[in-house]
Amino acid sequence: MTTNTTMTAAVYRRFGAPEVVQVDQVRKPTPKAGEVLIRVHASTVSVADHRVRSRDIPRGLGLLSAVGLGVLRPKRPILGMDAAGVVEAVAADVTAFAPGDEVIAMTGAKFGGHAEYACIPQDGAITAKPRNLSFEQSVTFVFGGITAHGFFKKVTIRPGTTVLVNGASGAVGTAAIQLAKQLGGHVTAVTSGANTELVTSLGADEVIDYTKQDFTTGSDRYDVIVECVGNAPFERVAESLNPGGALLLVIADLQGMLRSRGQSRRSGKLVTSDQGKHSADDLAYLVSLAESGRYRAVIDRTYDLADIVEAHRYVDTGRKRGNVVLRLTTPTTPRNQGL
Ligand SMILES: NC(=O)c1ccc[n+]([C@@H]2O[C@H](COP(=O)([O-])OP(=O)(O)OC[C@H]3O[C@@H](n4cnc5c(N)ncnc54)[C@H](OP(=O)(O)O)[C@@H]3O)[C@@H](O)[C@H]2O)c1
Repeated sequence: MTTNTTMTAAVYRRFGAPEVVQVDQVRKPTPKAGEVLIRVHASTVSVADHRVRSRDIPRGLGLLSAVGLGVLRPKRPILGMDAAGVVEAVAADVTAFAPGDEVIAMTGAKFGGHAEYACIPQDGAITAKPRNLSFEQSVTFVFGGITAHGFFKKVTIRPGTTVLVNGASGAVGTAAIQLAKQLGGHVTAVTSGANTELVTSLGADEVIDYTKQDFTTGSDRYDVIVECVGNAPFERVAESLNPGGALLLVIADLQGMLRSRGQSRRSGKLVTSDQGKHSADDLAYLVSLAESGRYRAVIDRTYDLADIVEAHRYVDTGRKRGNVVLRLTTPTTPRNQGL
């Protein structure tokens, strides 16, 4: 039960399987200077939560990530990189938000979204929630949307630009398809056959079923490849890129990151794992698309906080489609409302 000083949260105090996460009472955060306190209505359980909880970190990045995540035990015991909710209180110097504002926000590397309350800096990635959508729908724009948008800001996509999205059915992939289509791109989605309908419904022009065809062995070339799986480093896809094309490494290991600059220089193609800094403007862009019906929430399943272990188990399968939503308040939309 929440009191003035405590709140309910999903907490993990050691790294491991989904069962390390427990619903518990913890200290309610207080907004520091420049911060906004949000009463969280919804968050998502993302692959990032899976990665840090289970230390499933890309090769070579384990030591580096331990600095931020903790060595023996988690530094930040509440997971959740995003939040949608209502501003409950603001620090005295906050001018951009006021109690009662409905917002979506990226908690990012500080995590903390899987709790009844979270603090966000007013100058961070926080913006007004889309007026026409529920908290549960709106929160799905944050993790995948802001990532895909951040990477697309590194390239120019105009009508006719050919964009291949590897891992098109995940949180980032479903966002990337929609955002590339917005800009007029011709999108090829790489996914398993079971997700063909989903990616087509989001606007994909072509679909490659990776269980039947290897997109790197065909004769087709692309202007932009968005790599969301971890099996398409530059060495493998260089020949699938048009001259002057770009490989956007949403996921890469340490070697892939270190090599990218040299690969870019030598090939004349952009190879990058850097999506830049997230801002409120990035989120506001996604909200504007959503409010005009040009960007939609892709929700696979919705879980209540009490079912957090189940939610982690599902995300751990690696098969989720779009987003898994975590509900922190009373239902506002039907459970498992589908895609
Ligand atoms: N750089 C960053 O800041 C950043 C931000 C967000 C995410 N990421 C990383 O980006 C990756 C994608 O994130 P996400 O949230 O989109 O993941 P996700 O939602 O967990 O992706 C799940 C999807 O991946 C698909 N998939 C699995 N193996 C595949 C394969 N061999 N080929 C094509 N699709 C495959 C699955 O579809 P099927 O069932 O059809 O296989 C499933 O729908 C993760 O590795 C994540 O850590 C990085």
